[in-house]
Formats: sequence, C-alpha cells, structure tokens
Amino acid sequence: MTIVGQEAASADVTAGLPADFCWGVATSAYQIEGAVDADGRTQSIWDTFCRVPGAVFNSENGDVACDHYHRMPADVSMIAGLGVDAYRFSVSWPRVQPGGRGPLNRRGADFYSRLVDELLSAGVQPWITLYHWDLPQELEDSGGWPARDTAYRFAEYASLVHSVLGDRVPTWTTLNEPWCSAMLGYHQGVHAPGRRDFGDAMKAVHHLLLGHGLAAQALRSLGVGELGITLNMGCATPFSSSAADIDAARRADGLGTRIYLDPLVHGRYPADVLEDIGVSLPVAEGDLEIISTPLDVLGVNYYSSLTFRGGDDPASPVVVPQSLPVTAMGWEIVPSGLTDLLVRLHNDYGLPMVITENGAAFDDVAGSDGFVADADRVSYIASHIEAVGKACSLGADVRGYFAWSLMDNFEWAYGYAKRFGIVRVDYETQERVLKQSAHWYRDTIHQHRGL
Ligand code: FCB
Repeated sequence: MTIVGQEAASADVTAGLPADFCWGVATSAYQIEGAVDADGRTQSIWDTFCRVPGAVFNSENGDVACDHYHRMPADVSMIAGLGVDAYRFSVSWPRVQPGGRGPLNRRGADFYSRLVDELLSAGVQPWITLYHWDLPQELEDSGGWPARDTAYRFAEYASLVHSVLGDRVPTWTTLNEPWCSAMLGYHQGVHAPGRRDFGDAMKAVHHLLLGHGLAAQALRSLGVGELGITLNMGCATPFSSSAADIDAARRADGLGTRIYLDPLVHGRYPADVLEDIGVSLPVAEGDLEIISTPLDVLGVNYYSSLTFRGGDDPASPVVVPQSLPVTAMGWEIVPSGLTDLLVRLHNDYGLPMVITENGAAFDDVAGSDGFVADADRVSYIASHIEAVGKACSLGADVRGYFAWSLMDNFEWAYGYAKRFGIVRVDYETQERVLKQSAHWYRDTIHQHRGL
C-alpha cells in the first residue's frame, strides 16, 4: 500500500520525545456515539441545547453523530490499525446513570465494558474521561454545576463507572475542560446549558473542581492506577509592555489557567483572581483539601494561544489578532505557544503531562473515493508534536500525545460543519476513510518507535 505522507514523517518531528512516549487518538461520547435513546439512556444538557432554536449551527444534534454506538467494534479495529498505544474516550453519564441519580444502568454500562474489552484485545490502552460535558438534564433542572449537590452526584457516578471498568482501565481522568463547562455553558451561553450569568459560572468553577476532588478521592480509595484531569490552556501574551496590556494577559491567564491549577495543585485559589472576579466563590471548610487530592497526570488540551491588550473595561481583556495563519475555526496556529505553555506548567505545577487533545479543523475536500489530502492538518499536527519535543528537551515531563480527533464528529455549537478528524466520516453513509493525516500519524508513530 502507498504510504501517504511518508515524506513529511521522514523529517524527525519526534525529536526530543521519550522513547516510551504514548501515542493516541481521542473522541468524546456525545460527539460520536449517537443512539441517544438506546438502552435506557436519558437526555443530557446537550440533547436539550441542540433543540434550542439558533443554538447549534444548522439545528444539528448528536442523535446519530458517527453512529459509533452501533459501529464500535469496527471503529476499534480502525484505531488499532493506526498503530496507536491508547484511545481516549468519554463515558456518557446519562447512559450509565440515567437522570444522574440512582443505580447503574447495566445496559448502558455494558457498551463501555465491551469497548474496553475490544480495545484491550486489539492491544490499545483505554484512557477514560468521566465527564466531557454531557450532564444529565435532570441534574441541570435541579441547579446544574452552580449547585453544590452536582459535585456529590459526580463522585457517585465516578464510583459507579469504576465498579464496571475499574479492573481493566489504567488511566482515569475526571473532567474535560471545566473552563468550557463553566464559561461557555454558564457565562457566555454558547454551550449547553446556555445560561448567561457570570456569578453562576463562578459557582460552577468551584463545584466542578469540588466534583473532581470528590471523584478523585473516591477513585483513589478504589485503587485506580493513574488519576488526572484535563484542562484547555494556551499562553496569554501581553500585546505590549504597557501596564494595561500586562494586566490584561494576567487576568486572562488567571481565569483560564490559574483558577483551576492553583487549587488543584497548591490547594488555594489565586488571590489576584479572586479579586478580579468580584464575586465570592462558594468554598466550604475542607473543600480545598479535597480539590487538591494528588494527581498523577495533567491532561493538556492545546489548540492556540492568544495575545491580549487592556480595553476600556480592565475586567475584559481584548484579544489582538496576530496575523498568523488560522484553522477553519479561525484559531491562530501557534505551535511555539505549546512549547512555552508546557515549560511554564512544568515550572509552576511540576506534574507529569499528557497532551490529551491537539488538532485542527480545516475545510477538507474529499475525492470521489472519500480520501482527503489534508496537508494543512499534517503540518499542524507535525508542528505541534515538534513543539512537544522541544518542551521535553527544555525539561518538561510530557508523556503522551492524543490527536483530536480520531474522526470527524459533532463539533458542539458548530454542528457537523467543522471537521477535526484524521479520519473522514461521510455522514450520509457513515463510511470512514483515513485522511492523509491518519496515514502520516501512523507512519510517524512507527518511525518514533524505530520500527
Ligand atoms: C475541545 C473539546 C473537544 C473538541 C475540541 C475541538 O475544546 O474538548 O470536544 O470540541 O475542542
């Protein structure tokens, strides 16, 4: 077979990476599974949000998505065919615990049990994310993440999932990108549940972190191997050396990164951020000890970095476009920001890290055979893998890289318009076709292993 993309792979983009570096691909439940009514699953906040007029591009939804729920064994063979070490997927809370309370739904849980078995027998390590944004609607109805009780419900759900998969899954991450849940979901209203209240978003931040901590304690006591959380981060650079611009970047970094990592690692919220937000967080006695339960791995999702300047309102840093090439999301392509971020996280927080997401949407053009020659995506991924290698050479402890995403899928408020996959999905036929980037990724992994 022709190895497409071999040339790009032959430049050593993996220089600096450890020999036992873990290579993977990532997805999330609502974005790929479909089968929203199958086997006792109830509604999540995304099922509801997709029905709000104007909320999602083209009124699309995850009802069918990539139909992964019904095509899982073939998808696992495809994953194994890429030669990856690991597959990061998320568990749908309303599938395994409908309504977010009460006992395990055995039929829903069986899907993940079969998925894990398929992966293990194909030689691929399962990497679980417990929460990738699909809160059971009933929990939103009783307050959602701004309500403290949701944190306790999450820990209970984590233990239920562990009772089914704990014997076979080595790595457990609690939340995916709590910044998105809190800020996009409860402040900007562009993600489910679509609320627009800054005070609620700040309550959500604390309760997401508390839910993480309670789940981490529960999972620790159940003996999980490796425990982590995934955050989305980038570098926040001041546009100039003016005091206003430096302050704008400090604020953006505070609300984007430090408000999560300081309590998680150092057991305290950063004083400057508490002052910036101007509302008090609902912190109860003992919460910060729970939140700072030791972690084994920090999942880093990286797509871009931003430059900020101060605006008329100091509380609202202004993004300054840098005239760099952008992806189809309009996100600037800044691989050097990934190196800088990883080195900074290493210095400030000292945790082993794994890139749990990195990748790009481009306006793919498929040939009549469905093949996409996505040199732009190859170049994006290659430059970011190189950036990780540089960070390792500078001392950062980065142990793995998961490409986002295994396949094109439901890109939240953008519906199916934005394609992040290294595998193309034809949504009419559900046919999967490896893009040039998938071939390139497989060759690069192969080469890194010295095979
Ligand atoms: C991240 C999400 C993931 C996907 C990518 C493009 O913020 O975790 O589900 O949407 O962005």
